[in-house]
Amino acid sequence: MTKEAFRLTSPSGVELDLPVRSGTVGPDVIDVGKLYKEQRVFTYDPGFVSTGSCESDITYIDGEEGILMYRGYPVEQLAAHSSFIEVSYLLLHGELPTAAELEKFDHTIRTHTMLNEGMLNFFKGFRYDAHPMAMLSAVVGSMSAYYHSEMDASNPDHRDIFAHRILAKMPTIAAAAYKLTSGQPFMYPQNDLNYCENLLQMLFSVPAEPYEIDPIAAEALDLLFILHADHEQNCSTSTVRMAGSSGANPYSAIAAGVSALWGPAHGGANEAVLNMLNEIGDKSQIKKYVAKAKDKVDPFRLMGFGHRVYKNFDPRATIIREMCHKVLAQLGRDDTPMFDLALELEQMALKDDYFVEKKLYPNVDFYSGIIYRALGIPTSMFTVMFAIGRSVGWTAHWREMIADPSTRIARPRQLYTGPPQRDYIAIEKR
Ligand code: ACO
Repeated sequence: MTKEAFRLTSPSGVELDLPVRSGTVGPDVIDVGKLYKEQRVFTYDPGFVSTGSCESDITYIDGEEGILMYRGYPVEQLAAHSSFIEVSYLLLHGELPTAAELEKFDHTIRTHTMLNEGMLNFFKGFRYDAHPMAMLSAVVGSMSAYYHSEMDASNPDHRDIFAHRILAKMPTIAAAAYKLTSGQPFMYPQNDLNYCENLLQMLFSVPAEPYEIDPIAAEALDLLFILHADHEQNCSTSTVRMAGSSGANPYSAIAAGVSALWGPAHGGANEAVLNMLNEIGDKSQIKKYVAKAKDKVDPFRLMGFGHRVYKNFDPRATIIREMCHKVLAQLGRDDTPMFDLALELEQMALKDDYFVEKKLYPNVDFYSGIIYRALGIPTSMFTVMFAIGRSVGWTAHWREMIADPSTRIARPRQLYTGPPQRDYIAIEKR
């Protein structure tokens, strides 16, 4: 929908009307696409704080109100009533599936879980202490070497096959990375198990003895994957879109997203939260660490706090917090002191003027790590778990971008502050 134009007046008094566009919900957008052509100026917005990069009908976030919706459905409702597989269908296809559609989709995902055997050999080349995220990004990228016959982005059938392969094989790749670091043999997928049961089986079973899947563990993972499934134009998703906009194959684009997710300011925060809680160690130390986080000279930040978009409670954090209680109560692991420490830190920060003024609330990663730990998942695997859930969001965005006729190669401009033109100086004269 086009609205009344936004009028800009340049310092020399030239007026320019920029088109204003409205989405279904959310703030209006000023279309600056023609600004350079008409006025010879660029916009400047490091970190894209006020910049929309695309049109999308997948996910909506209202950071002020703490709202997150996938295809219009509030995440709270999906968390309460849906499953990760159903949410995946919703994100990829735009609508909730009928029972028959869901059954077919679920069957397709279940029957594409195996990896080309050659990919397993690839794992053998990594050092035993390689970080699982390093392996994940390398092996996901390598999928373009193993599955290159169905990679034509302009072919909708190929796009479907790619989506199914990514969704189905991410848990298998993740589990293989874990098994390598733990020195245990790789466990093949069992397709009679559902998505999260199969992941647990691949992570924790060994050939020497039977393995019983804990239903609470499978339920908790399913919930975490629903909450991690998409988050509109976040750093890793924008990276996937940007890499894919050049026409790079989709596996390379997803591998780029995995790499972007790894950073501690993004998906790496769940690992960083646990490391931070370990470092704090005891409730008596909380005050000291809150003071460090507020000290501008000290680079320390409270990991799991703050968000670019949420200036209110992250709705995902509220849901996870409840699951955290449930998991700790039912699995009876000895993580209650860690959770108590996290809760006390949360309460102290929520009351602190610095965090209140800057609207720094706990984000999804503040609690997810505690759940993963209670499930027996090692810290180095936390971001890998996030990547499994987010892979469907990346895929949905890549498909949307490819199908959008207005997509152009992503190519931002810059404010150049280097030296103006100068002449080369021969080395003996420098
Ligand atoms: N602890 C202490 N101070 C903080 C924190 C924090 N966790 N987060 C932000 N601030 C302060 C900043 O120092 C800054 O203060 P200033 O205005 O006085 O300079 C102000 O709050 C705004 O912070 P920015 O870094 O400018 O906000 P931005 O939107 O760029 O960053 C981010 C958001 C990266 C999430 C940041 O809050 C952060 O580093 N948090 C910790 C890491 C984390 O939990 N990341 C996970 C995000 S959720 C996800 O990706 C799934």
